[in-house]
Amino acid sequence: MKKTMDAVILPHRLLLIVTICSSLVVDASFVSTSMSCGAGDMDMSMGNLIPMRREVHGDGRILDITHRYTKDMPSWLSSNGIGQFLWLPNSMKNGSITNNSEMKLPTHTGTHVDAPGHIFDNYFDAGFDVDTLDLAILNGPALLLDVPRDSNLTAQVMKNLNIPKGISRVLFRTLNTDRRLMWKKEFDTSYVGFTNDGSQWLVDNTDIKLIGIDYLSVAAYDDLISPHQILLKSTEIILVEGLKLDDVVPGIYDLHCLPLRLLGAEGSPIRCILIK
Ligand SMILES: *[C@@H]1O[C@H](CO)[C@@H](O)[C@H](O)[C@H]1NC(C)=O
Ligand SMILES: *[C@@H]1O[C@H](CO)[C@@H](O)[C@H](O)[C@H]1NC(C)=O
Ligand SMILES: *[C@@H]1O[C@H](CO)[C@@H](O)[C@H](O)[C@H]1NC(C)=O
Repeated sequence: MKKTMDAVILPHRLLLIVTICSSLVVDASFVSTSMSCGAGDMDMSMGNLIPMRREVHGDGRILDITHRYTKDMPSWLSSNGIGQFLWLPNSMKNGSITNNSEMKLPTHTGTHVDAPGHIFDNYFDAGFDVDTLDLAILNGPALLLDVPRDSNLTAQVMKNLNIPKGISRVLFRTLNTDRRLMWKKEFDTSYVGFTNDGSQWLVDNTDIKLIGIDYLSVAAYDDLISPHQILLKSTEIILVEGLKLDDVVPGIYDLHCLPLRLLGAEGSPIRCILIK
C-alpha cells in the first residue's frame, strides 16, 4: 500500500522502477537517493551499500519495541552479555553459493515471552509451550504506562496506578528504561519488577492478560520466583519481558507480538511492535 502511495508522488521514470520491485517495500527517501532496489544494488558502489536500520517505521506510525539481538545484550546472571550466538558455517567467502547463518540462543533472551511451562513442571509436561500462547492476547490494544521510579511493583504501587477494569494489556515502563539496563552487557540484579504482593494484587484486581516489562524478568530479583508462579498459574496471563520502551509516549497503542512456534519451548524470542 505504501509503495503505491510513494509511487504517486514520484516522477514517471521512478514509478517504473518501483513497479519492478514488486516484493519490496520501498521508502521514498531510499528510492530518491539510490534509485535502486533488490537487484539494483549491484549497480551501486560498495560505499553506498548501507541498509536502513531503524526503530520507527512508516513515518513514525510503527514503533519497534523489540531489542536488537547482539552479543553484548544482557543475559541472566552473566556479566559478559549473551556472547556469540550467530555463526556463518556456509559462506560465499568459503565458496558456498549462499550465506547461511546458524544461531544458538537461550529462548529467554532479549525481548522474549514466558509460557506457563517456564515455572510449572506439570504445565511443561502437559505441553503449555510458546506454541500454545493465544495470539488474540498477544495482539490488540495495549496501555503503555510509566510507573513511579522509586519503587518495585508492589501492591501499593499497583493500586495507585488505577488501571481501569477492562484493560487487558499493559506495558509497564520502569526505572529499568531510564537506567538503560537492556542496553548494558552486565546483568543487573537491582532491576525493577513485581513483588509477590504486587503480582497478587494484579491477579485479584485487574483484567490484565498481558504484562510487558522493560527488563529480563517480571519478578523483582529478591522476590524470584513466586511472582511468575502467581501470574502464570491460571495459564491465562502472558508475560513479555525485555521490551524496548525508550522514547515511546505513554498511552494506548495497537500492540502486536509474535513469538516463534517453538514446539516444547517454555520461552521464545518475540517481535513486538506498537502501532499508533
Ligand atoms: C567459513 O568462513 C567463515 C568466515 O567467513 C568461518 O567463520 C567459518 O568457520 C568457515 N567455515 C568453514 C566450513 O570453513
Ligand atoms: C555474503 O554474501 C555476500 C554477497 O551477497 C558477499 O559479498 C559476502 O562476502 C558474503 N559474506 C561472507 C561472510 O561470506
Ligand atoms: C527493586 O528491588 C530490587 C531487589 O529485588 C532492589 O535491588 C531495587 O533497589 C529495587 N528498586 C527500587 C526502585 O526500589
